[in-house]
Amino acid sequence: MLIKWTEDLSVGHETLNQEHQKWIAILNDFYQGLADGSSKEKLTGLIKGLLDYAKVHFSNEEEYMRSIHFPGLERHQQEHGEFIEKATEFYEKFSTGKMLLSIEVTNFIKNWISNHIKAEDKQYARHAGL
Ligand SMILES: [Fe+2]
Ligand SMILES: [Fe+2]
Repeated sequence: MLIKWTEDLSVGHETLNQEHQKWIAILNDFYQGLADGSSKEKLTGLIKGLLDYAKVHFSNEEEYMRSIHFPGLERHQQEHGEFIEKATEFYEKFSTGKMLLSIEVTNFIKNWISNHIKAEDKQYARHAGL
């Protein structure tokens, strides 16, 4: 397992915590696939799953931030956009054989998720008084 959801990643919102947990589970599956030397098809599917779930989660999270009139929404959305851009690039380069997926890629995603939740997601939690 690459990363474990622990209380320090909590944003105090049940649904959004569950989404973060699911996203982390998908990342762990991807990491496991990489560690197991899974086929390119399987890894392509796993990284696509990670990307697709990020889109679902970001959209739900942005809707929540809008509902609580979170003032940092725009900046937060920009951060989400940058991640989608980067992850899409990984997915496209890997699926077209232009890049190998490595531990560095996995670590980038892992660090991004954990830093983002701690530094950015927790800000809307604070704003909402969660
Ligand atoms: Fe976020
Ligand atoms: Fe989030």
